[in-house]
Amino acid sequence: MLIALLPGDGIGPEVVAQARRVLDAVCGDALSYETAAVGGAAYHATGHPLPPETLALAERADAVLFGAVGDPTCDALERALRPEQAILGLRKALGLFANLRPARLFPELADESALRPEIARAIDMVIVRELNGDVYFGEKGMRRTATGRREGYDVMSYDEDQVARIAHVGFRTAMGRDRRLCSVDKANVLETSQLWRDVVIEVSAEYPDVALEHMYVDNAAMQLVRAPGRFDVIVTGNLFGDILSDQASMCAGSIGMLPSASLNESGKGLYEPIHGSAPDIAGQGKANPLATILSAAMMLRHSLGRPDDADRIETAVAKALAGGARSPDLGGAMTTDAMGDAVLAAL
Ligand code: NAD
Ligand code: IPM
Ligand code: MN
Repeated sequence: MLIALLPGDGIGPEVVAQARRVLDAVCGDALSYETAAVGGAAYHATGHPLPPETLALAERADAVLFGAVGDPTCDALERALRPEQAILGLRKALGLFANLRPARLFPELADESALRPEIARAIDMVIVRELNGDVYFGEKGMRRTATGRREGYDVMSYDEDQVARIAHVGFRTAMGRDRRLCSVDKANVLETSQLWRDVVIEVSAEYPDVALEHMYVDNAAMQLVRAPGRFDVIVTGNLFGDILSDQASMCAGSIGMLPSASLNESGKGLYEPIHGSAPDIAGQGKANPLATILSAAMMLRHSLGRPDDADRIETAVAKALAGGARSPDLGGAMTTDAMGDAVLAAL
């Protein structure tokens, strides 16, 4: 099986290197790898953040392991050439509409959570984030008002088929867990969200065993820090899911801990940590690679049919943490390499 490795920018290459070491240890020659440039690195090398060869590799591979994109030296470029367009382009081109972002607290990290340990201990949820629609992909631009003032706009929209297919993923995910689904929207203000809520209710008829609740996104942000244990599965749109998952990561200890899977209708997947390129710590050996290592485990489970290997990696991460492995974001001083060493030793 062929894995496309897209390390990207900033800490992306640093964390992907550690995931590769772990995959080599667990899967040996069963997997082969091809690496391609993406993001700012690809822009500097080729003039485009998502070169055709990179997209072709992602399409040809059995799965994609992605680091992160984002480069402050590219922030002034026109939007189509910015590094972030690479990940948005991959999500769209591969039809990766379902983004699973599991957030659970490894018990060893209860003291690293931004929440009190007794509240944090209960965290075990999956955020199911829609990834192909919403304000991310609507018409956008900059124009002048009638009085000549600059006006930026981004159109938020969802059609009912887009909502229904992510709702099904939410319900199916809940069926495999504690059968509680919380749909997060802003239906008190947004038409997009009213449709979202109506369609989620329609789809719920097919899942009588799942307890469905609806919550406004502002309340959800509050409940995530007040009582995160109340959530089992959250299903929400692209923008709300982006924001809530960064928040959930700190409740679970660190942004450097949360993996993700982005899946399409045929089960093809791209796997990446939820964090970005972290320019503030890039090149310093300070990045926590565990989110990427856990993303590799998700890849083995969801795309490569190797659930036992996925379990082995997740168990090794827990064991490494129990043994005291701590990068700076977790209150320690271990380097990115040393964190990888700790997981390998636990394996
Ligand atoms: P970020 O996630 O890169 O960093 C936020 C903070 O968290 C920083 O202080 C960073 O040092 C820290 N952090 C992130 N990952 C860490 C890790 N593994 N270990 C330790 N600390 C970690 O978010 P940002 O600073 O808002 O964005 C930086 C760039 O990354 C931007 O260009 C942004 O667009 C991009 N970005 C890309 C992705 C992606 O590729 N999917 C995701 C988010 C942000
Ligand atoms: C993420 C990131 C991306 C997003 C950006 C870089 C386009 O924040 O993967 O969470 O907003 O989806
Ligand atoms: Mn994000």
